[in-house]
Parts: sequence; C-alpha cells; structure tokens
Amino acid sequence: MNPRRALLYMPGDSRPKIEKAISLQVDSICMDMEDGTAHNRKQKAREVIAQALQELDFGRSEKLIRINGIGTGLERDDLDLTLPHHPDGVVVPKVESVNQLEWLNAQLEAAETAHGWERHSLRVLAIIESAKGIINLKEIATHPRLDALIFGAEDYAASIGATRTKNGMEVLFARSQVVLHAKANNLQAIDVVFVNFKDTVNLKIDALLGAQLGFTGKQIIHPNQISPVQAAFSPNDAEIDYAQRLLAAFKSAEAEGKGAIDFEGKMIDMPLVLSARQIIERAKAAGKLE
Ligand code: COA
Ligand code: MG
Repeated sequence: MNPRRALLYMPGDSRPKIEKAISLQVDSICMDMEDGTAHNRKQKAREVIAQALQELDFGRSEKLIRINGIGTGLERDDLDLTLPHHPDGVVVPKVESVNQLEWLNAQLEAAETAHGWERHSLRVLAIIESAKGIINLKEIATHPRLDALIFGAEDYAASIGATRTKNGMEVLFARSQVVLHAKANNLQAIDVVFVNFKDTVNLKIDALLGAQLGFTGKQIIHPNQISPVQAAFSPNDAEIDYAQRLLAAFKSAEAEGKGAIDFEGKMIDMPLVLSARQIIERAKAAGKLE
C-alpha cells in the first residue's frame, strides 16, 4: 500500500489545478466531484477528470477520484464517467453504513471484470464524517475493499451540532475513533483538513498532533500544505537514528535472553521495539531508508 502522507484535493473541474498537483510530487491527488465542486459544475468535473485520467501522466502520485455521497443520486454518473479511465482508487464521502460500501464494491467489481483489471485493484478510502458514521465504524471498517479511513471534521462537527474551536476538543473523540478502527483493521488513517491554508505555523502543529494520535497522513487543500504535512508524517533523522540504535541494542539483549533492557537510561521492552520497527517501516516508505 502506498504511503499517503498528504492527500491533496482539488475541484475536479479545474484542469490547471490537476496539472499543478502533478508537478508537486504529492503522495495522493484527489480530483473532487463532491463538495469542492459547485452543483452546476458536477458534469463538467466528471468530463475534466475523465480527460485528465486519459491524457496525463501522474508520475509517482496516486490518482484518486472523490465521488458524491452514496445515496445522493449523483454517485452513479460520477462513477460511470470516470471509472473507465482507471483511477487508482475512489474516495467516498459521508460513509454511514457498510451497505454503501457494498454497493460501491459491486460497481468496482463490475468495472474490473469489464476492463480485465485485476480484482480489487481499485481501492476505496472511506470518509467518516457524521455521528452515524462513527457509530457504525465497527462494521464499516472491516470491509475488505478498504485501504484507509479518513476523518472529516467539518462535516462531523456540523452533524453533531458542535462548534469548531482552535484546539479541536469537540472532535477529538471521533478523530481518535477513526484511528482506533483503522488500526484494528490494518488500514491507513487519514486526518482532518486544516482549512486556514495560509497559516503554515498552525498547520504544522495540527499535522503533528494528528501524527501523535496515530494518523498516517492528512487531507490537504493547497500546495503550500504539501511539504509540512509530508514532513510531519515522515520520521525525522533523529527518530530514525534512535529507532536503529534501539533495535540494535534490543537484538543483542535478546540474544542474551533478556526481554527488558536499560537503553540510554530508559526501560525498553516489546511495545517500544514495535514502535521503533514502525518508524523504520515509515522511513522506508518515505524513501528515507533503503
Ligand atoms: N490543487 C492544485 N493546485 C492548487 C490547489 C489545489 N488544491 N490550490 C491552489 N492551487 C494552485 C493555484 O491554481 C495556483 O497555481 P498557479 O500559481 O499555477 O496559478 C497556486 O496553487 C497558488 O494558489 P493560490 O492563489 O494561493 O490559491 P487559489 O486562490 O488559487 O485557491 C483555494 C485557493 C482554496 C480555492 C484552492 O486552494 C482550492 O481549490 N483548494 C481545494 C478545495 C477543495 O478541493 N475542497 C474540497 C475538499 S475539502
Ligand atoms: Mg466532507
């Protein structure tokens, strides 16, 4: 599974923004037909996305489409026009029940069969952004087509009648639930959009909080957000060095039959070894280690 440290949205009707995104080396490019696209531009967005998928080389960036919510009546046209041009995956908003994923799965299976693509090669990333979505997470998160759960804070806050605050306490419970269910099912967890796209200082703080909570990446909306976010979700050199030293020390201790050791003044046992291994894996995925 590709690392998706930064998942950049742009309105699907904007060919210039799609082209710009491709030039920026972002992990995932998500061409939006949902809320980033005005109602009277939905059809235009489908056409622009179809053409972009046919004509443009996305390089190392993943190419995703975001459809309208399942049940809105727009989702079938979104899929019919864009799916034949083989995006890597579909981001589906406002997921509230596993039945919606079952419906999508059937459409994707049909496309895979019709085009002779590998089964399950079209991946799904589900956005959880309502009270119902959180309550039904346990069932939703087990769907085998899923690669990732995404948390949508703005829609979630609206769904529960919360007021957004700077520190985000009002969404913390749901934000953590998304991480919990993602990790229990071996899925990526992709964090909230930081909407003040000119405020890089607070973006970094928010991205770091997401990484500390266990998220593996973050949704973004502007080119300025790519590099701070990709950095926040990649281990830094000091962390990689520490993890390597810790693993080496643990390996020699293990050979001597010890399960817990004193490492640079700190007690190290299995949970910390597992965290260190995760840092090494993330460093490899980010291209910082062979
Ligand atoms: N993806 C790709 N390129 C983008 C981009 C995005 N999300 N947002 C801005 N750019 C480009 C602009 O086109 C511009 O390119 P240029 O210098 O080649 O002309 C450059 O980056 C600088 O953009 P800027 O002028 O600072 O912003 P803007 O006024 O053009 O756009 C927004 C501001 C918020 C409208 C825009 O960032 C946007 O559309 N974001 C995505 C919104 C979205 O998809 N929402 C739904 C998901 S939550
Ligand atoms: Mg939303």
